[in-house]
Amino acid sequence: MNLMLMGLPGAGKGTQAEKISKKYDIPHISTGDMFRAAIKNQTELGKEAKSYMDAGNLVPDEVTIGIVRERLSEDDCAKGFLLDGFPRTVAQAEALEEILAEQGRTLDYVLYVHVPEQLLMDRLTGRRVSSSGRTYHVLFNPPKVEGKDDVDGSDLIQREDDKPETVKKRLEVNIAQTQPLIDFYTEKEYLQTIEGDQEIGQVFEEIDSLLKRLH
Ligand code: AP5
Ligand code: ZN
Repeated sequence: MNLMLMGLPGAGKGTQAEKISKKYDIPHISTGDMFRAAIKNQTELGKEAKSYMDAGNLVPDEVTIGIVRERLSEDDCAKGFLLDGFPRTVAQAEALEEILAEQGRTLDYVLYVHVPEQLLMDRLTGRRVSSSGRTYHVLFNPPKVEGKDDVDGSDLIQREDDKPETVKKRLEVNIAQTQPLIDFYTEKEYLQTIEGDQEIGQVFEEIDSLLKRLH
């Protein structure tokens, strides 16, 4: 299955992607995670992406499209993929259509996780992450031991861009891009909207039953 998960910052893309990727055995491709890994490894890509991310802005299209093009041509993506947070602009969406056409495939579905904007600030400022990539929330999805990852016990930290000032900017930037993308995918008939203002398990059930029905 060739899937794309879209939604505003904090909508729950990463949380749901982890579950979908496991159940449907397709690689989870998050451009945000790829940029964060590049920053951690101090690569050229990381150096370039960091200033945009820290300011809550989008990384330029050429850079983002380039890393997705490379990733989608890797062997494990032959069986399908789950894109999380890409495309985020119409230019990226058009580029993705081209990349997939070159590979002789198309997207099957775009899953749009819709959450009322006023809930997102609390979700983002209460988020805590482990270095192994698992995501928690101090209130909505707390770890078993406060401040520690459930699986390996490592310390949980706050993402650099989850400070209230940056969150505001990220929301603004992403809200401006959302409607044009929705229009783009509605026209292509890929778009499926999921109500993301429910418990994490319920959101997943909704996605899962939709995928079973559509597949
Ligand atoms: P990215 O990492 O993709 O950030 P984002 O889009 O801002 O989305 P988030 O990761 O913040 O939210 P999410 O939807 O994954 O929510 P999560 O599941 O964690 O991108 C970061 C940056 O990289 C961008 O700002 C940009 O600079 C750059 N970038 C990335 N892609 C780009 C692109 N294509 N083009 C240009 N630049 C790009 O959940 C959030 C919190 O809520 C967690 O604490 C979670 O536990 C909790 N939660 C989840 N679901 C629920 C629920 N149902 N109920 C209650 N709480 C919940
Ligand atoms: Zn995410």
